Amino acid sequence: MGRMIVPHTTPTPDPDRTARTVRKAVVPAAGLGTRFLPATKATPKEMLPVVDKPAIQYVVEEAAAAGLDDVLMITGRHKRAIEDHFDHAFELEQALAAKGDTVRLDAVRDPARLADIHHIRQGDPLSLGHAVLCARHHVGDQPFAVLLSDDLIDPRETLLSRMVEVRERREGSVVALMEVPPEQIHLYGCAAVEPSGEDGVVRVTGLVEKPSREDAPSRYAVIGRYVLDPSVFDILEHTPPGRGGEIQLTDALQEMAAGGTVHGVVFDGLRYDTGDKADYLRTVVRLACDRADLGPEFTAWLKEFVAGLENAGAERERLAA
Ligand code: UTP
Repeated sequence: MGRMIVPHTTPTPDPDRTARTVRKAVVPAAGLGTRFLPATKATPKEMLPVVDKPAIQYVVEEAAAAGLDDVLMITGRHKRAIEDHFDHAFELEQALAAKGDTVRLDAVRDPARLADIHHIRQGDPLSLGHAVLCARHHVGDQPFAVLLSDDLIDPRETLLSRMVEVRERREGSVVALMEVPPEQIHLYGCAAVEPSGEDGVVRVTGLVEKPSREDAPSRYAVIGRYVLDPSVFDILEHTPPGRGGEIQLTDALQEMAAGGTVHGVVFDGLRYDTGDKADYLRTVVRLACDRADLGPEFTAWLKEFVAGLENAGAERERLAA
């Protein structure tokens, strides 16, 4: 019997499918970081170290881990350090290579190897919505992710990959939602939601920016990860300035939600706000404790330190009695 010949055909890529796939990430990092002054007077807040890496490197690593190999940073004046961090540092690399210090050499080279990294300046940090609009030319007509650089999602979580996957199945835009206590909802954009029939995914029917506790439609806060349909650009362009005279991303998303094309992925994992002083400190401590190289020694010290604080408190109470 002759061998059956299976005709070999090269699958032709479906142009629609390629256009729909999320490949690009936008990282707005042009804000003034006023909550962290004076540290952020001459240093971008995104460059503040979380253990031994700048906060923004975790965010780019997260994008790369979700398969986004093209990252556009929205920067501004006084943000040169970000551009330098994701570039080569020839003198440093040469010095480390000459010493044969391959571990540090890799650490220096890694940021530039994470993705194809681009930078664009937002002349005036007018608002987050305006920062996203600055990405229009680079993004084109593909869906794209937006990662806020002071929202750090624990490196062990897979939130962004889940959001990309939801976009690819359901089209439209996807926001990340986290349940917060009612007394904190006024700090966030808040989503009105309906069940979607899928575990961990909801349909977003409306969005309100920083509502009072009484006006909040739910306890779901929008956190700093988005997968946006490119139609957001047209909406942002004609979105009149909202609260505080800013072009609000929330207003644009609200318009999309009214059209029934926004989904929410509910996140209950670890997230840190590195733009806030107290949360930044918690982030550093937490991630330091988790590190294999630093954790054991640091945790032992931390326990002693906390015990010392408790003893000092008990002693103060004893003296006051
Ligand atoms: P934030 O409001 O948290 O950042 O904006 P900020 O303005 O730098 O911080 P504070 O409140 O003054 O301390 C969320 C994200 O959007 C970026 C910021 O860099 C941050 O990552 N952003 C904000 C821009 O890129 N451009 C803007 O015009 C505003």
